[in-house]
Amino acid sequence: LATANGKLYFGTATDQPGTGEDTDIIYQKILNNTHIFGQVTPANGMKGMNTEPELGVFNYTMGDVVVNIAQDHNKILRCHNLIWSTQQPEWLTSENYTWTRETLLPVMENHIKTIITHWADVCHAWDVVNEAFASNGSSSASPWLDIIGPDYLPLAFQYAHEAVQATGKDIDLYYNDYGIESPGNKTNAVYQLVRDLQAQGIQIAVGLEAHFTVLDPNTYANQAAVMSGLQDLGVTFALTELDVRFPTLPPNATYSYEAQAYRYWESVSACMQYSKCEGITVWDFEDKYSWIPETFEGQGEADLYNSDYSRKPAYYAVAEALQGQ
Ligand code: G3I
Repeated sequence: LATANGKLYFGTATDQPGTGEDTDIIYQKILNNTHIFGQVTPANGMKGMNTEPELGVFNYTMGDVVVNIAQDHNKILRCHNLIWSTQQPEWLTSENYTWTRETLLPVMENHIKTIITHWADVCHAWDVVNEAFASNGSSSASPWLDIIGPDYLPLAFQYAHEAVQATGKDIDLYYNDYGIESPGNKTNAVYQLVRDLQAQGIQIAVGLEAHFTVLDPNTYANQAAVMSGLQDLGVTFALTELDVRFPTLPPNATYSYEAQAYRYWESVSACMQYSKCEGITVWDFEDKYSWIPETFEGQGEADLYNSDYSRKPAYYAVAEALQGQ
């Protein structure tokens, strides 16, 4: 439905190996079905702690698990992520290293360029920098910020841009964040980053994570306003981590499955309205593997499928939105 209606993909994150997904036959069957998910993102396997666990020593084993899923089942691969504040290599914050801006910059450059080059044939897009802005639009806390300074962010994109140019491949380079699905200070900071990089001739795309609760202010109108702004800037964008959690369980009259379905419908429908919104990714699809309960105690049921693999109203709402209904 997504590709028939002008999008590049509808896809999902998956977290393998290690969560149980990899040995769950029904999960595998749904994940592998290209008619349900035409795209995959590794939820953890390509993060810095896994790709460069020792300084200068790269490891592609975990990431390759999801690369293989994409290749075996003809799916687009979004690669996630190169520079973030968490799940980074231990050497970045270890007392064994006394980092300075001068010593860390070449290390960041090597990290970005080595990994982009290694997976250049398989990554459709890279989340180059993840979650670098605070809600007021200033820089959010990160060891990269502490050691290098705020220009670690544009410099990361410059290195990524150079790496992609050297490979001659067409890889979208994303800035990816949450809380930028409605207008506001954080969204304005992202617009400004886009303008700054465009002025330098450095490519950038924008990922709207879209981690929502059933009742929150990220309405269709708010998402459309942000997307309209991005479309005007001429950048590619995507919904990269969509899920809609219940802030209290079990669902009830206020927080109903229908309300959740409507939230999914709003996001997907907004993306369908803008040609530069290239696709939609849910952050896994089955409640028992969702990241939510571990992070937000007492919350959950955020995904399209119940833990027994029955489909929620949200599943059908997404199908309708993809068809413009
Ligand atoms: O790998 C260890 C395992 O060895 C250990 O036994 C187990 C015990 O809890 O923990 C495992 O690590 C967990 C890891 O996921 C892999 O499963 C961590 O505790 C857990 O904190 C980590 O959570 C991930 C989270 O990012 C970390 O911030 C989630 O799976 C992942 O879905 C989530 O993804 C992020 C995106 O990258 C960026 N946007 C937000 C999104 C949701 O938080």
